[in-house]
Amino acid sequence: PFGSFKAALEDGFKNGYAVGQFNINNLEWTQAIVEVANEENSPVILGASEGAIKYMGIEYVGAIAKAAADMSKVPIILHLDHGSSYDMILKCIRYGFTSVMIDGSHYPLEENIALTKKVVEACHPLGIHVEGELGRIGGVEDDLTVDAREAALVRPEEAERFVKETGVDAFAPAIGSQHGHYKGKPNLAFDRLEKVRDLTGIPLVLHGGTGIPDEDIRHAISLGVAKINVNTENQSAFTNVIREIFDRDKEVYDPRKYLGPGRAAIKDAVRAKIRLFGSAGRA
Ligand code: G3H
Ligand code: ZN
Repeated sequence: PFGSFKAALEDGFKNGYAVGQFNINNLEWTQAIVEVANEENSPVILGASEGAIKYMGIEYVGAIAKAAADMSKVPIILHLDHGSSYDMILKCIRYGFTSVMIDGSHYPLEENIALTKKVVEACHPLGIHVEGELGRIGGVEDDLTVDAREAALVRPEEAERFVKETGVDAFAPAIGSQHGHYKGKPNLAFDRLEKVRDLTGIPLVLHGGTGIPDEDIRHAISLGVAKINVNTENQSAFTNVIREIFDRDKEVYDPRKYLGPGRAAIKDAVRAKIRLFGSAGRA
């Protein structure tokens, strides 16, 4: 069945584990994630970015997720990742999303609060849950100076105000994680994370889950992170296996002969994350 974003995250927040958000890009992705979640008896969040929605078509996203939820024993959550506008949120609600992220982090604080609040007011009466973001979670391509890093990090007092005034169900504070493969070791601001947890008291979200060392993941979970987003790692796992097959076999033409192994590689990667995040056995 479809599950509740809020209930899943609150259980993780209370019991010291995180629910994985694994982004989907196509049918095989969805199958891999949902199969592993069932095998591990774990709640799971299917993340759909605006780019992926454009690529797949929102009708297919909704229909594939519905099929997955119908077949699944564990709760499946279909979540808009980094939603950029109120209109996009409304569209996702129409196509069966259970929760949304509104990412107003590139706006000044007041505008981010106003937009996020408007989204919460539209979503909550319909039972749709909302994630908001503050600070800047960039890509690894933006090489940050010390000052730029400082400027990108969440300010805990602003986080407190943001959460109070918007009524979001989950909050993504920028603590130095980045999207994509890290160059070198990630440098997470755990002190800020702890302050944000103390001041907001709601489940926190860690973006850029690819390539963060296991001990940092566990540390983040111990400080209130109850949702961790992973995308790039699965993309690499899928593509690396397919690249190997193509290098080895110049004759292959049946897509099932490489999409199948690609799907199996995603399953292995997702299983390792579900176990690391502690959500196995929690469905
Ligand atoms: O919102 C999506 C995530 O933050 C994914 O980050 O591609 O670095 O794993 P990642
Ligand atoms: Zn993200």
